[in-house]
Amino acid sequence: MICSSTDGQTRKICERLCGILRRGGDEVTLAMIDDAAALAPSGFGLAVVGARIRYGRTDARVIAYANRHAQALNAMPSAFFSVNIVARKPQKNRPETNPYVQKFLRRVAWRPRWLEVFAGKLDYPRYGPIDRLIIRFIMWLTDGPTQRDAVVEFTDWQQVDAFGDMLSRSAAA
Ligand SMILES: Cc1cc2nc3c(=O)[nH]c(=O)nc-3n(C[C@H](O)[C@H](O)[C@H](O)COP(=O)(O)O)c2cc1C
Repeated sequence: MICSSTDGQTRKICERLCGILRRGGDEVTLAMIDDAAALAPSGFGLAVVGARIRYGRTDARVIAYANRHAQALNAMPSAFFSVNIVARKPQKNRPETNPYVQKFLRRVAWRPRWLEVFAGKLDYPRYGPIDRLIIRFIMWLTDGPTQRDAVVEFTDWQQVDAFGDMLSRSAAA
C-alpha cells in the first residue's frame, strides 16, 4: 500500500486498511510516497494507493508513480482512493461524482479495479496562517466550518472498514 499524506489523515486511513488486511491473514507493506520509488507493484497480490488532495491536486509523485507502473498495475488487482474535504458533501462522495478522482483518472494510464473516495479532516490549528485563511475562505464559500480553531474529522470509518473488508475478500480470492 502506498500513501500520500501531509497532515496524517490519509495515513490514518491507510493504517486502518492495513490492519484489516493483516487481520484477514495478508502480509502488507505500507510505504509513504517519499519512499515508494523503489517499491514496484509486481510481486504483490494487490496494490493500493491512497492520496490526499491539497489545493485541488493529487501529489505529483503519486501521478508519476501511477504512470510509471501503469502496465504492472493494470495487470493486477489494484485500488486507488482519494482523501479530500469536498467528499464531505453527499453529492461528491462517490468516485464517479468526486472531481478529484475523475481528474486523477484523466491524468494517469492506470485503471484501478476499485476506486474509492473518503472525506478527510479539517484541522485549522495545524495549518499555517495563510493555509488556514484560504481554507476558511473556501469553507465559507462552501458552507463548511469556519471557526478558526475548528477540528472536524469528516471521515466515515464505517465506509473505510467496508472498503477494507472488500479488499481483504478480494485479496483472499
Ligand atoms: C493546504 C490545504 C489545501 C487543501 N485543499 C483542498 C482542496 O483543494 N480540496 C479539498 O477537497 N480538500 C482540500 N484540503 C483538505 C484535505 O484534503 C484534507 O484535510 C485531508 O484530510 C488531508 O489529508 P492528509 O491529512 O492525509 O494530508 C486541503 C487541506 C489543506 C491543509
